Amino acid sequence: MSEKINKSQENNYMEAPRIETPPPGPQARAMLATQKETDSNVISYPHMIPLVPDEGLGATVKDVDGNYYIDLSGGVGVLNVGHSHPEVVEAIKLQCEKACHMLDFPSQARMKLTEKLLALVPGGMKGDSRVFLCGPTGSDAVEAGVKLSKIHSGKPGVISFEGGWHGVTGTGLSATGKKGVRSKCMPVMPEVYIEPYAYCYRCRFGLSYPSCDLQCAKFLEHIVRDPDTPATSPGCVLIEPIQGEGGIVVPPDGYLAEVRRICDEYGLIFIMDEIQTGFGRTGAMFASEHWDITPDLLLVSKTMGGGLPLAAVIIRNQFDTWSPGDHVGTFRGNLLSCASGLASIEVIQKNGLVERSKNLGALALDALKDIAKDSKVIGEVRGKGLFMGLEFVKDKASKEPAPEILQKVVTRCFQRGCILWKSGRWNNVGRMMPALVITEQLLMTAIEIFARELKAVEKEL
Ligand SMILES: Cc1ncc(COP(=O)(O)O)c(C=O)c1O
Repeated sequence: MSEKINKSQENNYMEAPRIETPPPGPQARAMLATQKETDSNVISYPHMIPLVPDEGLGATVKDVDGNYYIDLSGGVGVLNVGHSHPEVVEAIKLQCEKACHMLDFPSQARMKLTEKLLALVPGGMKGDSRVFLCGPTGSDAVEAGVKLSKIHSGKPGVISFEGGWHGVTGTGLSATGKKGVRSKCMPVMPEVYIEPYAYCYRCRFGLSYPSCDLQCAKFLEHIVRDPDTPATSPGCVLIEPIQGEGGIVVPPDGYLAEVRRICDEYGLIFIMDEIQTGFGRTGAMFASEHWDITPDLLLVSKTMGGGLPLAAVIIRNQFDTWSPGDHVGTFRGNLLSCASGLASIEVIQKNGLVERSKNLGALALDALKDIAKDSKVIGEVRGKGLFMGLEFVKDKASKEPAPEILQKVVTRCFQRGCILWKSGRWNNVGRMMPALVITEQLLMTAIEIFARELKAVEKEL
């Protein structure tokens, strides 16, 4: 029987990190071999780390061979309250006994969640918005948000950003600024204009902030305004407040405000994709709050379902102009997901997890910056709250991306009981986004493991 740290906000396995059998152990190897036979070739995560999980608790995971890990992946944004939070589990059990699926009739679980969401939304959305529970996954929110933009504006065009990630369904794939995922499916949706994001470490214009005077925002204005650009019919801007899959790219102050101004001035709908950054991840309930931005449409998913699949578009009233039936589907607002999502948001609020994300994130970021000073291969450390990235390069002068060095560190960390995740345009950004219930001790232990394994890898270079 595993031992648990039994405080409701810090529910983790006490054993983590503990490696009994070097992973993948015998059980894990057998299951990985079976999976190779049974699952499609398309699955990807076991190629990064051969993890075969048995259970999860908070920010920790136990594998089938009895190894315990500190999990810095946080379910890639799904598990802000951690694996199997007892209050979330209880809410799912209770709802399961009542009903699981009621389409979009106004059942209690659904209504309580939508009321909660409307009380949380950023800035001027409060008191002026409605919720559309639009499906199980983040990509569904992207599809729905862009469709609403097209219906409302009568314009098909979408402006999105280099390095941005909006999923892999039709619209999301088209708007995702990574060639690799689009290239096998061309042609994608037309009238998508992918523009430079404010990625200061690799500024598209070769400039530095703040003397750049936000050239990237100026370029966006040029694309929208001038007659000599490809953007013939833009109706919306689709943007992440901090790019997640793109490598935890935090834009400089003033950038998103400029994007908001451009949307206002040229009549574009501002769609903020907070699918990964929402619900306390960045040390604010929504990352938009860091820069006081009010989106027109807010896309949410991942943690919103508390571990179960759920997605929504939150719409400022003036844009809710589509008609009943314009966007229908079966799995919208699943009641288990609603109950689980509501419980998860209540756990975040009751336990001050937004503040905790901010404070622990600041501590961790300082520690990681110290580590980077002594490293030849970490070009930049960045992040907000418990949403942190370390960009791996061959050397700091050339900034040539070094995904293979990062992969070595990821593998070694895994073997020592720490699950480190990856992101970035070249898969070269180490990503740390643990459940917000992680303890300071577990977080610092994970960072120590990372520092040790990084040193070991650097020695071999
Ligand atoms: C910002 C953002 N938007 C959209 C998506 C797509 O969500 P899903 O994979 O649940 O379809 C993701 C997934 O990582 C994301 O990070």
